[in-house]
Amino acid sequence: MSPTPLKVAVTGAAGQIGYSLLFRLASGALTGGAPIELRLLEITPALKALEGVVMELDDCAFPSLAGVEIGDDPEKIFDGVNLALLVGARPRGPGMERGDLLSANGAIFTAQGKALNKVAADDVRIGVTGNPANTNALIAASNAPDIPKERFSALTRLDHNRAISQLAAKTGAAVTDITHMTIWGNHSATQYPDLFHAQVGGRNAAEVVNDQEWVESYFIPTVAKRGAAIIEARGSSSAASAASATIDAARDWLYGSAENDWVSMAVVSDGSYGVPEGLVSSFPVTTKDGDWSIVQGLEIDEFSRGRIDASVAELEDERNAVQELGLI
Ligand code: NAD
Ligand code: LMR
Repeated sequence: MSPTPLKVAVTGAAGQIGYSLLFRLASGALTGGAPIELRLLEITPALKALEGVVMELDDCAFPSLAGVEIGDDPEKIFDGVNLALLVGARPRGPGMERGDLLSANGAIFTAQGKALNKVAADDVRIGVTGNPANTNALIAASNAPDIPKERFSALTRLDHNRAISQLAAKTGAAVTDITHMTIWGNHSATQYPDLFHAQVGGRNAAEVVNDQEWVESYFIPTVAKRGAAIIEARGSSSAASAASATIDAARDWLYGSAENDWVSMAVVSDGSYGVPEGLVSSFPVTTKDGDWSIVQGLEIDEFSRGRIDASVAELEDERNAVQELGLI
């Protein structure tokens, strides 16, 4: 008998990220080839386009794809899902910051949080990719009182992967030699990609690079503003890389991160590293069997403290803004 398929919901499934994400999911990139059932949510006007995407999924004859359901009713689509990837939200355009999307996108996550609360499987995990991702995750979690807050996370894995790629290019190392990378804070221009705890081939990355000017004037802004650079170059926001990071994050969460390394995930703070309890902020985490834990005991110097505090202050402002909008 074949194993029960993992039921995975994807919202915004007819969008740009969806067009890359669905095919990777269906081909087994998340489950390692084990069966997966896709539950695809869209707004009513996009359902026709989504039907076309499903025709293409059919045409791939993926052995691991055990079924596809589409619809515009979150309570039907989220029914019994083990994983919900909340991608559907408006992307920013040139000149906008992700936080500018709060009022446009926030309401999506109240309704979806409520629906997940009602109908998702008991073991559900919820990954938020739609921007502003951290605060949208906070909104969804606040509207799902019966789902433990630890089951919600927001995507900073794309930033994490971007940081690895930049460090590999600078040092001439392979991406597989870069470990212990951390993104702290918000998935925004204030995020802090931390080189001081990262390693290149087991050596401290800051010492290998030995160039504080490069860290401050090139590495941090390049990673933090990569999304804007892509929008500027492509005319639309990152899609394939966002889909790939969404899968990396979900795979590690569900099936465990590599031993002797950690990953970056935006998760609800327990007060670690001075991040106020309850904010959804990015931390270094290890994951095992669907649970994450924040890596403890890292020394935070004055430079890193200032960067983390600035990003956390922005998260507090976002939380205040959605409180005022009545979304949490
Ligand atoms: P897109 O506009 O191409 O697609 C978004 C889709 O969401 C559309 O098809 C739209 O119809 C759908 N949608 C809107 N409201 C919905 C709702 N209530 N329920 C279900 N579906 C709904 O956008 P995209 O390029 O796919 O990006 C999606 C989101 O992901 C944006 O907010 C973008 O900024 C964000 N993003 C985040 C990261 C990250 O690293 N966290 C990276 C890239 C993009
Ligand atoms: C990204 O980081 O590429 C996305 O969040 C899209 C954006 O608005 O930058």
